[in-house]
This record gives sequence, C-alpha cells and structure tokens, in this order.
Amino acid sequence: MNHLLKLSDLTTEEITELLNLADQLKYEKKNGIEHHLLKGKTLGMIFQKSSTRTRVSFEAGMYQLGGNALFLSSRDLQIGRGEPVQDTARVLSRYLDGIMIRTFEQAEVEALAEYGSIPVINGLTDYCHPCQVLADLMTIREYKHSFKGLKLCYIGDGNNMANSLIVGGIKMGMSVAIACPESYKPDAEIMKWASENGDFLCTTDILQAAKDADAVYTDVWASMGQEQEFEARCAVFKGYQINDSVMASAKPDAIVLHCLPAHREEEITTKVFEAHANEIFDEAENRLHAQKAVMVKLMSDKKS
Ligand code: CP
Ligand code: NVA
Repeated sequence: MNHLLKLSDLTTEEITELLNLADQLKYEKKNGIEHHLLKGKTLGMIFQKSSTRTRVSFEAGMYQLGGNALFLSSRDLQIGRGEPVQDTARVLSRYLDGIMIRTFEQAEVEALAEYGSIPVINGLTDYCHPCQVLADLMTIREYKHSFKGLKLCYIGDGNNMANSLIVGGIKMGMSVAIACPESYKPDAEIMKWASENGDFLCTTDILQAAKDADAVYTDVWASMGQEQEFEARCAVFKGYQINDSVMASAKPDAIVLHCLPAHREEEITTKVFEAHANEIFDEAENRLHAQKAVMVKLMSDKKS
C-alpha cells in the first residue's frame, strides 16, 4: 500500500491491518503511551473544501506521532491560480513526506499520486471518502465486535459517503443496503461490483433498507459544492431520513452513524441523533485514530 486514494484499491487484509493498528493506537493513546513514529516527517494538507474533522484529526494526529502538518488552503496555493496538479505534485514531493488532499475531482487526487513521489491520502472527493469509512468500520467493530453477519444500511444521497460505505462494507463481509431516490443512486460501477461480490441492495424504500440493520447511516442531502441545489434536493430527499420508524425497522440494538456535519430534522431527527450521540461522537473520535494508522502505515520508515 503506497497511497490511500480509494478503498477499492485496498484488500480486505489491508483494511483489517489498518483497523487493528487504529485500535492499538487508540488503546495506547488512552493509556498515555506515546509513539513518535513520524518524528521529523511533514504532511502537507491541501484543502479545496471546508473541514473540521479531517483537518483537525490529521493535524493533531501528526503532532501526536512526533511529526508536523501544514495546512495548505487552495486559496493561497498556486494550484488555486491554475498551477497544474502535476507540477504541484512534483514540487511538494521535494519538501514533504506525505500529502493529504480534499478536493472535488477524484482524478486530481490520482494525478497527485501519479506525478508525485510521496504517499497521497484522499481526504474526500466528490467520488469517495475512504478516511471516513475507515473510522466508520472501526466504530462498527468496536460496538459489534466483528463484521460477521452484520447488515449496514445507508439512507440518503448516493454520494461520496455511500460509494465508500458500499466498498468498505462489502469488503469486510457485511450485507449493505442503500435507500436513495431513483436519480441519486451511488456510482454504477461500484454498485455492479458490490452485487457481484457480496450481499447488496439498492432501493427507494427506506424501511426495506433498514429492516434488521445492525448499523444505520446517513449523510447530508446536499454535499459541499452542491449548495445551490439545496432547495431542489430538500424536495427530492424529503422522507430519506433516519427517524423513529426507520429505527423501529432496524434491529433493537442497532447503532446510528453519521460522518458529520449533521443537519438535524433533514437527514436525521434530533431525537434519533441525540439518542445515538455516543456512537456518532465515538465515530468522530475514531477519525483521529484511523488517520494516525493510515499515516503510520504510509509514512513511517518502519512500515511493514
Ligand atoms: N466527516 C468529515 O469529513 O468531516 P469534515 O468535513 O469536518 O472534515
Ligand atoms: N457528503 C458530504 C460528506 C462530508 C464529510 C460532503 O461531501 O460534503
């Protein structure tokens, strides 16, 4: 594993190894055991979109590992004025030990990896959000102890989160059910792959998707970059909400996950959100431990 560009590039064994390392780093952090595995290393973090969790978990994580993180807003970089990503990749590779990038096009992340000579980590594109799903899988395993026989349900937009959850869920052997409006389905190739490689359902029926689910997930109706579509999307997505009826269809001990930020009374009711706040904020915390595992795996000299 040289980069983290999308989850489909990783084997089930590689994902398991990252989750095990994340669990270990979490345990050690809670017990005051420090690891300066990235001493003297610098991570550049390019952001073309806003972020709270991704920025802070990578920056704090890098600090905890003995390294340094640079916040590089595209507003200030020459990339924001049109310098090609191919050149940016070759320049940054001369200064840094790794790059994390949050942007629109998946192709930009792939180009950064192709032209650079250091590990590239995808911190979210319109296509996928692999770092988030590593934290999600970590949280599911924490609460349910294993993935065996579990059903993961996602309700909402067939967006970057849906794409990565399908891949991560199927790779870890869960059954995955997505409920979304007909014109907002996840990526067609990902759905085809999921149907051929596991137990996968895509439906417009939220109660069917949620039936007997062990984990119920949602995300915003309008993602970053789609703000101008917000009102039209609210009309289409009305009803694609985690609420009491959805939770009654899921297993009684189902957990609720949300990548955050959440829009209460849109994709999730305040009542369900607050009843499951422990899980949701454990999931947010796990971004830190999962990100540290990814950086150690990709950037440490001692990587296996
Ligand atoms: N979930 C997530 O990626 O959050 P941020 O947009 O705050 O980074
Ligand atoms: N789908 C959301 C995820 C945010 C973490 C977005 O892209 O804005």
